[in-house]
Amino acid sequence: MSERLVYVCDGGDCSEKGSVELCEKLKEQIAPLDPEGTKVKVRKYPCFGGCEHGINITVWPDKVFYSRVQESDLPAIVEHVAKDAPPVQRLTGVVKPDVEGLIWQLLDSPY
Ligand code: FES
Repeated sequence: MSERLVYVCDGGDCSEKGSVELCEKLKEQIAPLDPEGTKVKVRKYPCFGGCEHGINITVWPDKVFYSRVQESDLPAIVEHVAKDAPPVQRLTGVVKPDVEGLIWQLLDSPY
C-alpha cells in the first residue's frame, strides 16, 4: 500500500464536535507507528457534506468514509491506517452514497 492520506473534517459542525482536537490526537497516535511520516499523512479538510454525521474522517486511496468518530474510535482507525488492518466497519456507510461519491471524485482529481 502506498502512502495514505487521512482527511479530518474541520468544517463548522465537525469542529464544534471537537474535530480539531481529534485530528491532533490522531496524529499523536500515528506518529510512533510512522516516525518518518512516510506511510500516513493526516490533513484537515474543509467539509465533506455529511455534517450532521460528523465527526467525519476519510481515508484515501482506500475510499473509506468514517462518520460519528469519537476519540474512543481512534485506536481502531490507527490500526487501519498505520498497520493496514481492515477498515473499521462500524464507522462506515453512514453518509449517503452520493455524498461519498462526490468526495472520492474530488480527492481523485489532481489539485
Ligand atoms: S462540517 Fe464536517 S462534514 Fe461538514
